[in-house]
Amino acid sequence: VADQPKGGHTVIAVDGPSGSGKSSVSRGAATELGLRYLDTGAMYRAVTWWMLERRIDVSDSAAVAARAAEALVAPGTDPASPTITLDGRDVSAEIRRPEVTGAVSAVSAVPEVRRLLLTLQRTVIGAGGIVVEGRDIGTVVCPDADLKVFLTASAQARAARRSRELAGAGHSDAAPSVTLDDLARRDAVDSTRAVSPLRRADDAVVVDATELSLEETIAEVVRLARSIRPVSDR
Ligand code: DC
Repeated sequence: VADQPKGGHTVIAVDGPSGSGKSSVSRGAATELGLRYLDTGAMYRAVTWWMLERRIDVSDSAAVAARAAEALVAPGTDPASPTITLDGRDVSAEIRRPEVTGAVSAVSAVPEVRRLLLTLQRTVIGAGGIVVEGRDIGTVVCPDADLKVFLTASAQARAARRSRELAGAGHSDAAPSVTLDDLARRDAVDSTRAVSPLRRADDAVVVDATELSLEETIAEVVRLARSIRPVSDR
């Protein structure tokens, strides 16, 4: 791929299923390593929010594809305060709403949406110096990443984490069993879609966070990052 980041600017790809703690771990590792941070899930969520606001039927992939280029998504890359704007408006809070979570798998399965966001992601990644989290970073977005982490955890641990996140966001009525179902459904859609399914890259390091605290998981990713050298030094 011609526009892949090359040279000594580190790219760390962090992929994995919902609720594995990717965002907290990626932000923490980026902060510790002095790197930028890109949350590609937030980009898919922002496009989804844009579609919902316009009453576009997200199950109609042709309708989603036809309008996708109009959603002007701009992600920030500061791990201390990740922001995402749509047409210049900060939608960091809106994209965490349950209706977005319920619709994002359908929107992110539309090839035109993925094509547009892939281009934008590669532009933001640029020459590197960044931790990028998502579902297809090691497989599609940055196949030449210096380090690929596939972060996972048991379904129970992931559901419990999601429930805590929802409670923290003010949606405390979400029972853990509901989020377990939601996770299973989203995992199934994300893993079986035709375009860029969630899949561990062959050269990814699996980090299982089931028994690890957030701090321990960040420390493991930082350790892995410090154990590799930029491609240009090899
Ligand atoms: O990480 P998250 O839960 O915020 O991601 C939201 C959705 O976006 C998730 O259901 C799958 C999709 N996604 C994707 O298809 N590809 C990515 N690189 C990141 C997220």
